[in-house]
Amino acid sequence: MTQERKAILTFNDGTPPIELPVLSGTLGPDVIDIRALSKHGFFTYDPGFQSTGSCRSSITYIDGDAGQLFYRGYPIEQLAEHSDFLEVCYLLLYGELPTGPQKFEFDSMVKQHTMVHDQMNRFFTGFRRDAHPMAIMVGVVGALSAFYHDSLDISNPHHREVSAFRLLAKVPTIAAMCHKYNVGEPFMYPQNRLDYVGNFLYMMFATPCGHYEPNPVLARALERIMILHADHEQNASTSTVRLAGSSGSNPFACIASGIACLWGPAHGGANEAVLAMLEEIGDESRIGQYIDRAKRKDDSFRLMGFGHRVYKNMDPRADIMRRTCHEVLDELGLHDDPLFKLALKLEKIALEDDYFIEKKLYPNVDFYSGIVLRAMGIPTNMFTVIFALSRTIGWVAQWHEMIGDPENKIGRPRQLYQGARQRDYVPLDKR
Ligand code: ACO
Repeated sequence: MTQERKAILTFNDGTPPIELPVLSGTLGPDVIDIRALSKHGFFTYDPGFQSTGSCRSSITYIDGDAGQLFYRGYPIEQLAEHSDFLEVCYLLLYGELPTGPQKFEFDSMVKQHTMVHDQMNRFFTGFRRDAHPMAIMVGVVGALSAFYHDSLDISNPHHREVSAFRLLAKVPTIAAMCHKYNVGEPFMYPQNRLDYVGNFLYMMFATPCGHYEPNPVLARALERIMILHADHEQNASTSTVRLAGSSGSNPFACIASGIACLWGPAHGGANEAVLAMLEEIGDESRIGQYIDRAKRKDDSFRLMGFGHRVYKNMDPRADIMRRTCHEVLDELGLHDDPLFKLALKLEKIALEDDYFIEKKLYPNVDFYSGIVLRAMGIPTNMFTVIFALSRTIGWVAQWHEMIGDPENKIGRPRQLYQGARQRDYVPLDKR
């Protein structure tokens, strides 16, 4: 009989040791189950959850040292090469690649839900034209729960599935509407003759005055960006969605909370920040000075698009993105694009610099995705929105998994309190 592996926590002050079970997953390091600690009067302290697993999951696996990313066991490189985005969505949601008929039915279901309630169009006029599209996204995606009451019962599997389809289908429509509202063009209704990505490009770039057909090379590049961003285990926005969902909130509200978290420059806002940084650097001759700034402790500047909480080796998505970047620039005849050349030079210099080598800081997926999106004519303020629409499926799949997990509890971390001890109120005239 194999003995259950245990970790024993000992103290140097006579407190009796505490035995903690060690759990093993299919891949990745073993995990010490600390749930019993609170019964002994202790909590763990782990700001930023660097050493804390918050849930069991079977969706995505990352080996940060090996630079590997798997969705449901399939390497990201294979999916980016052979799959389309909706097939990846099916895989993330249901755990297996679909058969032909399953894929057909899934795609048809998504198409059935691409329009938003017509009354939602009027929401947009409440926003300033120059509002950041992410600000509009947070509001409008959250507002879906005010329109689709018939799928809000989270204990009902059918409701959960309908909500998943609605989110997957409507988020691109809302995203494109944000752009159209920004630039003052009329909203374009979805075209269900097109595939998911082609339809999004149509809603972004078509106008009622002319004919628009998506360029297949650009559509494939965007599809790849979406596949690469579809899920990334328990990152900040996904954890936010799970935390919001752990209290029983409806899925539309939960996804809106994920969008809010994603907006930050340390997370989904990074590709926008990469372009801003490249534009600020402006010329190869100034790279050195920015690298120096990134290394200085007294300067908050960081090299945007470099570093990752989990990848301490090349982000496999960055490699695919670099190749995609070449394809798009070739297609558009932009190979002399100064920003792309600057990015390549910056990457080379940083990868040879001791600071970046020592700290294992490699380019992440966002380093190149911004250049690709810009070349496609997507405005910078839409970059994070495109990340949000790609990640919606990951959030939805993780939310589904959490709702079905019998160990799920409301997320409620503890703290190391360092404030004042109890003291008595002093009246205003005595202070
Ligand atoms: N430039 C310069 N130094 C950096 C960078 C960077 N981009 N990233 C990390 N470091 C340094 C830190 O200053 C720290 O140095 P120290 O040990 O001397 O204090 C060390 O490397 C470790 O960094 P942490 O901040 O502890 O790493 P963490 O895991 O908390 O942060 C993060 C990861 C937020 C992604 C960080 O690398 C960063 O801010 N990168 C730039 C923003 C970015 O590209 N974000 C996109 C992430 S990918 C995504 O969301 C899809």
